[in-house]
Amino acid sequence: MTVRWGILGAGWIVQTATAQALRDAPSAHLAAVAARDISRAETLEPDRAYSDYATLIDDESIDAVYIALANDQHAPWIHRAIDAGKHVLCEKPLTLSAADTQAAFDAARAAGVELVEAAWSMWHPRMRRVTDLVSSGEIGAIRNFLGTFTFDGVPEGNYRLDPQMGGGALLDIGIYPLHALIGCAPTWAPHNIAKETIDGGLGVDMTTKARLTTETGSRASIVASFSMPESQRLSIEADGGTIRITDDQAFTTWRQPTSLMIDDHVENFPETDAYRDMFEAVSGRILGRSDWLLDPSASVRVATIVDALR
Ligand SMILES: NC(=O)c1ccc[n+]([C@@H]2O[C@H](COP(=O)([O-])OP(=O)(O)OC[C@H]3O[C@@H](n4cnc5c(N)ncnc54)[C@H](OP(=O)(O)O)[C@@H]3O)[C@@H](O)[C@H]2O)c1
Repeated sequence: MTVRWGILGAGWIVQTATAQALRDAPSAHLAAVAARDISRAETLEPDRAYSDYATLIDDESIDAVYIALANDQHAPWIHRAIDAGKHVLCEKPLTLSAADTQAAFDAARAAGVELVEAAWSMWHPRMRRVTDLVSSGEIGAIRNFLGTFTFDGVPEGNYRLDPQMGGGALLDIGIYPLHALIGCAPTWAPHNIAKETIDGGLGVDMTTKARLTTETGSRASIVASFSMPESQRLSIEADGGTIRITDDQAFTTWRQPTSLMIDDHVENFPETDAYRDMFEAVSGRILGRSDWLLDPSASVRVATIVDALR
């Protein structure tokens, strides 16, 4: 038995990774794609292509919708899909605020459908190992958490540079280290926030650097940038040990072997496609299995920290 998926949008991430990942997930079937330019939907070779999103959502043969639209369009299409009784996997950030994120989960719960934020890095076995190690208490409480995701250059005209469309580095890539932090410590909440934002003159943060501290002195440093050299770092100093990712690909490692340093010991992980694993897990839940999913509370907590930083 497979879940029949429809994809809203046929942009970069769909063309590069997620349409194929969905095809590769044994419990998922790519039934339909909708894109404003139908020819871009057709290139993905679904059973059916549509030129508008609502027609796909109203297609009764679709069980679940994957939303891969620009950030400002997530919330309206999440609600439209939930109202039509569809399960929803939506790209990160799920919405543009914690209140909207909570409202989306409330709507999904009321309708009895799954709603999941597609923070794909959290399905990677290495990240699962990191979060399990810390959240289980095995290496003690976090003293210092460092998570950075930076690269240089967003093409002119891209929605990432448009404040009305949910642009900015924090919403685009700051989400990743924040999900890692909350995955490690689900109730982690900042008491003090020191932050520096560099606005590129377009009304979006090109860089956000933040130092967050809890009431008990646990610290997290987060850097997200569209105008710094490409780098993705993750290191955690805890009361009982340290965890480090040393390959500078902490959040987007894809189809390649990876490793993790736990104190001075290296753990190795075989190559995988965490996008495929995400589609398989969400499909599994829809089919009644107990696959691991990112919890709604994690998405709400990350959105709450993003709100505080914006
Ligand atoms: N998980 C990941 O690794 C990952 C990586 C990159 C991005 N993302 C997320 O995926 C989503 C899409 O990102 P992307 O990089 O694929 O972006 P993109 O190539 O710019 O695609 C954005 C999509 O939004 C739709 N759209 C509708 N109205 C639009 C408008 N007025 N202007 C621009 N786009 C409009 C387009 O749909 P049509 O196809 O119908 O034209 C397009 O497919 C974002 O939420 C982003 O955060 C996730």
